[in-house]
Amino acid sequence: MKKIFKRFIAFVIIICGFWYMFDHIASKSKGEEVKESVLNFSKENKAETIENNDGDDKLVLVNEEHELDKNFKPKDLTIPNITFVHGTSNEEKHVSEIIKEPLEGLFDAAKKDGITLLGNSGYRSYKSQENTYNNRVKSQGENIADSYVARPGSSEHQTGLCIDVTNQKQSFVKGTKEAEWLDKNCYKFGFIIRYPYGKKYITGIEYEPWHIRYVGKDAAKYIHDNGITLEEYLEK
Ligand code: DAL
Ligand code: ZN
Repeated sequence: MKKIFKRFIAFVIIICGFWYMFDHIASKSKGEEVKESVLNFSKENKAETIENNDGDDKLVLVNEEHELDKNFKPKDLTIPNITFVHGTSNEEKHVSEIIKEPLEGLFDAAKKDGITLLGNSGYRSYKSQENTYNNRVKSQGENIADSYVARPGSSEHQTGLCIDVTNQKQSFVKGTKEAEWLDKNCYKFGFIIRYPYGKKYITGIEYEPWHIRYVGKDAAKYIHDNGITLEEYLEK
């Protein structure tokens, strides 16, 4: 009887040991899952949700496959000391703190070269982007809207890390001296032309010479020198 009891105790100890081991492994991988969902590397969902970018991740990729959470808002929005075009909303005058100085440096350098750049649209909340997108659909249809306006959640304007610039004529197109200057010089201040000519098949967006995105000087120089997109840079 004593022997059976001892065996029973040994059995219980072994079972408890296994249970502890499995529980430990499961909770560790669950912990990693939680961490990953914050960083948004969900492999199952095509559209990854970036819930917790604190605005410091200057290389964050936002496009139709890497969406921002509806409630995401950079914590450090500020108005840079640049001239904005008439009609820019107060919200759109804001950008993320980390791009304030580089942006001011860029605008000052342009001025020294006789080029006048104006701010047009910086930060846009999910809601504002939704309005922008819906208005474009109403005025130009879904195909054009999708070529030039990111759907809400897919716009980098929600990060505060980009800004649309324009010129005094508000005609910032290929061939204007302002667009040429920006294309040639923005990398020196850490910005890239985010939607370059002929790269829609990668970015999903038509050429936008006016939309500059801050990525930091090293990445911007590499992207500029190699004529690639942010998508390609992040995959290298
Ligand atoms: N125009 C760019 C693609 C945006 O709407 O974010
Ligand atoms: Zn833009």
